[in-house]
Amino acid sequence: MEDYSYAPDYEVESLKVPPHSIQAEQSVLGGLMLDNQTWDSVADKVIAEDFYRKDHRLIFTTIEELAEKQDPFDVIIKNRGYSSRSEGIRDAIRGYIRYYDWMSSIEGDRAATITLAYNHHQKGIEDTLNNIQHKYIDIIRSSVHIHMENDNCVEVIILQGDAGKIREIYENIVKNKGIQHVKLDTINPQEI
Ligand code: NI
Repeated sequence: MEDYSYAPDYEVESLKVPPHSIQAEQSVLGGLMLDNQTWDSVADKVIAEDFYRKDHRLIFTTIEELAEKQDPFDVIIKNRGYSSRSEGIRDAIRGYIRYYDWMSSIEGDRAATITLAYNHHQKGIEDTLNNIQHKYIDIIRSSVHIHMENDNCVEVIILQGDAGKIREIYENIVKNKGIQHVKLDTINPQEI
């Protein structure tokens, strides 16, 4: 198994140490990678916030998303020639962690877009997204909202400002239930 122990804010998090067991968390995640039945038995009992380690929370969230979209994921596994479901999940998680590492490393002034999709029937989601955007009006330059079929909405938020704040907005959005997709892209004005 690859070592995913690197988490940029791990040191900060270790300052507030609740009771936890890294090994127990790893064995739960390991079990989840094996098959859908494991997910079915764990899903009701464990939520992402139960994990102490941030990278474990991310892995759990990724598996949760994949479990919810079970059929498409199995099709991807077949089409891309993965030998097993767990190999496919590991690859997906690696990509997710690479993306998160990149996001944690950006700093300074950035132009950015955050693209998100959500179902507007999810309770409280529109209020939450509104509140987040009002809170950061100093760096949000514009936004576009598109109403899609099946009660889904797509929004693109265009930002310019401190990368740390841009990341904060992303993190405030991504953790909400009902958010189907969030993607951050940035441009470094010094490198244009
Ligand atoms: Ni809409």
